[in-house]
Amino acid sequence: MISQNTIQQILSRIDIVEIVGSFIRLKKRGTNYLGLCPFHNEKSPSFTVSPAKEIYKCFGCGRSGNTIGFLMEHEKYSYVEALRWLAQKYNVDVEETETTPEQKLLQLSADSLYIVNSFAQKFFTDHLFNSEEGQDIGLSYLKERGFREDIIKKFQIGFNPEARDSFAKAAIHAQYSVDLLQKSGLVAIRDERPVDNYRGRIIFPVHNQSGKVLGFGARILKTNDKAPKYINTPENEIYVKSKILYGSYFARMAIDKADECLLVEGYTDVVSLHQAGIENVVASGGTSLTPDQLRLVKKYTNNLTIIYDGDSAGIKAALRGLDLALEESLNVKLVLIPDKEDPDSYVNKVGPAAFSQFISENKKDFILFQLGVMLQDAGTDTNKKSAVVNQVAETISKINKAEDFTKQQDYIKQCAELLKIEESGLHALVNKFIREKITKEETRASREDTNNRNSDNTQPVEIEDDVMALLNKDEPHERAMVRSLIEFGLKQWDEKQRVADHVFSEIEENQLEELIDNKNLLILVKTYKAWYDEGLEPTAKTFLYHEDNMIRHLAMAVMDYHYEISPNWKNVYEGKIDSREDLYKEEVFSTLNYLKLRKIKRMVAENQHDLEQAASTDEQMVLLQVHQHLKKMEIDLTRKLGTVIFR
Ligand code: UTP
Ligand code: MN
Repeated sequence: MISQNTIQQILSRIDIVEIVGSFIRLKKRGTNYLGLCPFHNEKSPSFTVSPAKEIYKCFGCGRSGNTIGFLMEHEKYSYVEALRWLAQKYNVDVEETETTPEQKLLQLSADSLYIVNSFAQKFFTDHLFNSEEGQDIGLSYLKERGFREDIIKKFQIGFNPEARDSFAKAAIHAQYSVDLLQKSGLVAIRDERPVDNYRGRIIFPVHNQSGKVLGFGARILKTNDKAPKYINTPENEIYVKSKILYGSYFARMAIDKADECLLVEGYTDVVSLHQAGIENVVASGGTSLTPDQLRLVKKYTNNLTIIYDGDSAGIKAALRGLDLALEESLNVKLVLIPDKEDPDSYVNKVGPAAFSQFISENKKDFILFQLGVMLQDAGTDTNKKSAVVNQVAETISKINKAEDFTKQQDYIKQCAELLKIEESGLHALVNKFIREKITKEETRASREDTNNRNSDNTQPVEIEDDVMALLNKDEPHERAMVRSLIEFGLKQWDEKQRVADHVFSEIEENQLEELIDNKNLLILVKTYKAWYDEGLEPTAKTFLYHEDNMIRHLAMAVMDYHYEISPNWKNVYEGKIDSREDLYKEEVFSTLNYLKLRKIKRMVAENQHDLEQAASTDEQMVLLQVHQHLKKMEIDLTRKLGTVIFR
C-alpha cells in the first residue's frame, strides 16, 4: 500500500485544472472552466471543472468526481495507478507501507501469472501470424469466418501449435517454473512430462479492465465430439470467472458513449460485433450473470441489453439471477436472434446496419419477457398460473421503489394485463412481498443490534414515546458531528488545543461507541483518530481521496449532508450572517453535546426501566440516586445546548 504520508504529499500538489486540462481543452468561464465532456458525445460544452471545489461535473451526462476519479474514469487507471501517475508527475517519492508476507506472496503469485500470460499471448500471436502451421490452420480458419486482420490483432487472438509441447518448451526455456505454468492452465503434466493444454487451438486472451491478460479461452478447430469446444483458464488468483466479462476492456468507452451495454454469450460474438462497429458489447461465457458481473456493468451504465440466440439453452441461465439486476436498478432488455443464428453469424449475414436496427426494434423488457416464457410454460394449468402470478409479484417487488416508483407502477399495470387479472390484486400482492422483505431485514438488523448491545440477552428496553424520537437512530446528528470533526478538526479550539484534541478528549470520557451508533461513521472517526495520533493532518480531502472505496463513499455521504447552525445565534445582531466556517466552534460544540445528551437520555431510560423491575427497596434507592444524578447532568447539558439552536 502507498503510505498516507505520500498520499498527503500528492494531494497537496493536485491542481485539477492542470490535470484535466492535459486531457481535454478547457476554457475559463467565471470561476470555473468549461470543456467538451470526454465521457459522452456532445457538441456544446457542458463539462465543468471547479478549481475551488476540486471537482469536475458534466451537466450533460451527470458524471462527476475529483482528480483521481477523473484519471480512473478517463485513463482506466485503478486508484493506486492514478496515485502513482500523479506521484510521477509531481515528483513525489512513493513510500510503500509494509505488506504482510502473505500479501507479498499473493502479490508475487498474481504478478507472475500476469507475466506468464503476457508471454503466452505473445507466443500464440506470433505463431498465428508467423508460423506456417499458424497461418495455414489458424489464420485461414479465422479469415474464412470473416475476421479481419486488424480485429484479430486488436483482440490479440493467437494460435497454439498442434505439437505436444511447443509452448511448454518455449516457456520453460524462458525460465518459467512448471508450477506456475500449471497454475496458469497453459500447461498440464501428462506421463510426468509438461504438455500444452491448448494444442491446435485458436486462443482468445481474456483481458482485465486495464488490458492485462487474465487468462484464455482456447477454441478447438476440428470437429471432435470428445474434446470440449472451449478450454478455459482454471480459476486462480487472477482468473476469477464470476468477476470477468469478456471484452470489457475494449467495450468500456463505447458503453459510456452509448449508455448501454450489450451482453452476448460467446467470444466470437464479441469480436464479430466489434468488427461491425458495435463496440459496446461484452460476453458472459454463456452462464448466468453473477452479482459481481452485474456490478461491473452497473459501473458503466444502467442499461443492459442481453442478446442471445433464440433457442439457446443460455436464455434460462441468463434470466436466472436477473432479479438481482432489478435490485441494483439496472434496466434490463432482452433480444432473441432468430433462425438458429447467433449474434456472430447474424451480423455477418445481415450486416451492421440491419443488425443494429433489429436489436433496437426487438428489445423486450426483461420482466415482460420472463412473464411470457412462464405463461407459455404454464399453459392452461391454473395452479401453475397462480404460481406465475406470485413469481411476477415477487420480481416486481424487487424493483428499488425509492428510485423507480413509476417503473414499478408501470410493470404492475402491464403484467396485470398480460396475466388477465385485476391490477389492484397484483398491487396488493407486490406490496405483500415488499412488506415481507422489510420485516425480514428488520428482524435481521434488530437481531444483530440485540447481539451487539445486550450480551446478557435481556429484552430491548421499552421507552416512552417522546424520548424515543431522540433515542432513535438519529443518524443525521451523528453525521453532523463526524462532518464537523473532518472539516474543522485542524482549527484551533482554544489557545491550547485544536478542535480534534478537544473532540477526542471528550470522546475519551464518553466512549466512542456510546456516542455513535452508526458503524460506518464509527469507522470514519476511528480512521481520523488513527491518522491524527500518527501526526498526520487529516482533512476532508484525505478522506475523499482514500484508497479504500468504502471510506471515500462514506466521506462523500457525510460531506453531502446539509447541516447548519441557526444563524440566529448570538452573532446575528452584529449585523452579519455567519457561515458554517465562522461558526465552527458552535457547530462542534452543539453536535458533540447533542450526542452526549442523547447518551444521557438513554441512560435515564434504562435506569427507569431497571427501577420498575427493581426487586428490593435498597436497589430502588440506589437506582433513584442514579436517576437524580443523571437528570442533573441532563438538565445542565440541555441548558448549555439551549444557547445553540439547531435547525
Ligand atoms: P458457443 O458454443 O456459442 O461458442 O458458446 P461461440 O463463442 O459462439 O463460438 P463459435 O462461434 O461457435 O466459434 C458460447 C460461449 O460459451 C463458453 C465460451 O465462453 C463460448 O464463447 N463455452 C462454450 C465454454 O466455455 N466451453 C465450451 O465448451 C463451450
Ligand atoms: Mn458462435
